[in-house]
Amino acid sequence: MHRLAGDTGVLDVNSVYAYVLWCHDFPSTSVVAEVDGELAGFVTGYRRPADPSVLMVWQVAVDDRLRGRGVAARMLNHLLDGVAPGGASRLHTTISPDNTASQALFAAVAKQRGLTLSRRPLFAATDLGDGHEPEDLYILEP
Ligand SMILES: CC(C)(COP(=O)(O)OP(=O)(O)OC[C@H]1O[C@@H](n2cnc3c(N)ncnc32)[C@H](O)[C@@H]1OP(=O)(O)O)[C@@H](O)C(=O)NCCC(=O)NCCS
Repeated sequence: MHRLAGDTGVLDVNSVYAYVLWCHDFPSTSVVAEVDGELAGFVTGYRRPADPSVLMVWQVAVDDRLRGRGVAARMLNHLLDGVAPGGASRLHTTISPDNTASQALFAAVAKQRGLTLSRRPLFAATDLGDGHEPEDLYILEP
């Protein structure tokens, strides 16, 4: 996951320890996809402690050789199917304004599941430092 995050060239790369700890503590809201035994993609997420009806998706990455085949959408649908019985019916994520692939991904998942999609500013560039893009909050909900 650490390697794949770095290979995307656009995701913030967290430490190996951060990914290991994440999977240890949030296994039901995170997933990896494998193709022929090799890592093809991952999603990290959590249910918001202040509002467990929300699945907060943090990072989504797919190996660039395997993009455009529905891997990311399938991982997100897998997570949404998994949290629905526990009462989580909404998805939140943040996306930078220039990430059209990610915007298209979440728009497609909203359409597939009949969810409405809305967006509002969340974090300004100055909140995130290091020349980071701002991050808008995307909300998918019934
Ligand atoms: C964003 C990302 C995860 C998409 O993965 P993917 O497996 O290629 O996406 P999917 O094949 O599941 O596509 C899902 C939908 O998004 C659309 N989409 C995906 N990439 C797109 C692109 N570059 N341009 C336009 N639409 C795109 C697909 O057409 C599809 O829509 P459809 O069902 O209406 O045809 C992948 O491009 C990636 O890893 N990017 C780098 C990391 C990143 O930006 N992550 C997101 C921010 S956390």
